[in-house]
Amino acid sequence: MRKAALCLCLLLGAAPVRAEMPAPRAAELEHMVIQDCGSCHGLTMKGGLGSPLTRDVLDGAPPEALASIILDGVPGTAMPPWRPLLTEAEALWIAQYLLTMEPAR
Ligand code: HEC
Repeated sequence: MRKAALCLCLLLGAAPVRAEMPAPRAAELEHMVIQDCGSCHGLTMKGGLGSPLTRDVLDGAPPEALASIILDGVPGTAMPPWRPLLTEAEALWIAQYLLTMEPAR
């Protein structure tokens, strides 16, 4: 049982499972992450007004938890809720995008 779980992790690590997203919408979301999220989190997500969102910082965060922050924001901070602009699947896609994005050099 434990071995099976380990294999699954290795498998997921090798080929991250992405939320299904049609290519044109995925391109829009990618643009949004850089333009809109980037205005606070930095163009390369290394932080600014918002906290860094790089893969190494977020590593280990469950995508669902990040997606819920993206949808509802962080009350009392500058992080706004994106629910009016994004579906849950799109927020999950962005979370997975952040978790797998290549670090900028
Ligand atoms: C107006 C500025 C602003 C914009 C725009 C913004 N954020 Fe944030 N975000 C913040 C701030 C500030 C925090 C830190 C909140 C705190 O102190 O916990 C944050 C936190 C987060 C976190 C939690 C990080 C962690 O380590 O727990 C995630 C995930 C996140 N933002 C994603 C996004 C995404 C995705 C977008 C674009 C759709 C976005 N943010 C746009 C300001 C912003």
